[in-house]
Amino acid sequence: MQQGTGVLVLWEHVLLNTKFSRIIELGTGWGGLSLYFALWCEERGAKFHTFDIAKKWKDTPLAKMICLASYFHVLDVLHNPQPIKELIVRPGPSIVFCDNGDKREEFRQLAPILKPGDIIGVHDWGREIGRRDVTDVMVDHLLDVIELDLCRITDSHTRLFKKREISCEC
Ligand SMILES: C[S@@+](CC[C@H](N)C(=O)[O-])C[C@H]1O[C@@H](n2cnc3c(N)ncnc32)[C@H](O)[C@@H]1O
Repeated sequence: MQQGTGVLVLWEHVLLNTKFSRIIELGTGWGGLSLYFALWCEERGAKFHTFDIAKKWKDTPLAKMICLASYFHVLDVLHNPQPIKELIVRPGPSIVFCDNGDKREEFRQLAPILKPGDIIGVHDWGREIGRRDVTDVMVDHLLDVIELDLCRITDSHTRLFKKREISCEC
């Protein structure tokens, strides 16, 4: 996994306490986090999709056992985001994790199309993406930061945002 191990504490908490229909990982890399997400999706009956510009992960015994190839798609997400958008808007809550080439641009492209209750996460917070890259999108598209304390405590360099669910009391 190309993440600090503390991120697993964060994701365990989020996935245990969230209803989701799919997880979409942008940036498969060596596939470590993908295996973890794939297990969670299998357990929950949810879909898992992971994208990268090239296959960098190896057909290890674990990758074969979990059939990582069946979740993996080669795609330049930055220049062809349409397949990702089509997945996000499907019925049921989506969790999107941006961990590839240009987190700032991916956040700005994808956050606006989230449905109420959907979650978008970014890696390398404070290194490749920061508050000034997201503030206007958050305001315009009703996104709230979630699990900030846990993100900080686990030193995960991850930030999570959830599209607000508006209740109408007319
Ligand atoms: C840090 S790695 C992902 C690590 C993985 N999520 C994990 O935690 O184990 C980033 C990956 O993003 C991929 N990437 C970079 N630009 C991309 C693009 N435009 N579209 C899709 N993937 C891209 C790279 O090939 C690289 O494998």
